[in-house]
Amino acid sequence: MNVNEIREKSRSVIGPYCKSCPVCNGKACSNKIPGPVGAVSQHYSDLYNDNMFNEIYVRACAKSGIAAFTGDGLNEEIMIHATHAIKENKGIGVPTIKPWDKDTCFKKLDLANESNAFAIAMDIDAAGLPFLQGRIPPAGRKSVEELKEIIDYAHVPFIVKGIMSVEGAQKAVDAGAKAIVVSNHGGRVLDGTPATACVLEEIADQFKGQVKIIVDGGIRSGLDVFKALALGADAVIIARPFVNMIYGGKDEGVEAYVQQLGQELENTMMMTGVSSLREVSKKNIYK
Ligand SMILES: Cc1cc2nc3c(=O)[nH]c(=O)nc-3n(C[C@H](O)[C@H](O)[C@H](O)COP(=O)(O)O)c2cc1C
Repeated sequence: MNVNEIREKSRSVIGPYCKSCPVCNGKACSNKIPGPVGAVSQHYSDLYNDNMFNEIYVRACAKSGIAAFTGDGLNEEIMIHATHAIKENKGIGVPTIKPWDKDTCFKKLDLANESNAFAIAMDIDAAGLPFLQGRIPPAGRKSVEELKEIIDYAHVPFIVKGIMSVEGAQKAVDAGAKAIVVSNHGGRVLDGTPATACVLEEIADQFKGQVKIIVDGGIRSGLDVFKALALGADAVIIARPFVNMIYGGKDEGVEAYVQQLGQELENTMMMTGVSSLREVSKKNIYK
């Protein structure tokens, strides 16, 4: 099956909120699906629970030559299963921890360290998510010193996800992050938040080479990947389209989408006369 057929198939098993649109752009599902779309059975359909979903997701990404970022939530089983899946796949995956209190972070980091994951992330912007407010364990903002203590506890490079400003990037670097993710958590967390494409260039201009720069939010094609690299990213995360691929085609869906992205990226490089990803620069995009 190709990507279109897999997306078509996902439409029959997903819903009612997600419409498996030809391009996942947040329009048809506005106000129905949050940006951070963990709890797949609630947001997509009960074909999978988070543990079943993560098992396929981590395995299929590792097989396709990319790494899955797994999520975290109030249900501690999610992180336990996700880190187990990463361990099963030789550490190819990035457990992403919510900004809990220090003791909970250390417990989650024990799981992540034990999984042999090649990197660990924290979605620091989840500090403001309504569903985490006033809950046990508590989650919330971190000072640079608090974040540094958490980062020092990890055995592998630490990625701070949810950076939208130069000031935020500086704090992540000061705390010891080896990479940042320029992300607005899918654009559904705070109205009026700019698109990541609007802030990426300024952040990259300041921090390129000091810290790896990853970006997410609405990246859907190889052409989009090219644009992100041209604006200064070292890598991208693509999230929601993979849900459709897994619902419609499990491992085959992930493989087909990754192949398509690679082909589109190659075509874009050919059309712009770029022969290596290192060469991609601002000069290649029309602003
Ligand atoms: C199934 C699923 C679960 C997610 N869970 C998390 C999470 O736990 N933590 C997080 O930082 N982001 C989470 N996200 C958000 C994505 O990492 C990403 O920031 C956001 O969806 C924007 O990318 P996109 O437009 O390509 O979907 C999740 C996304 C998906 C699809």
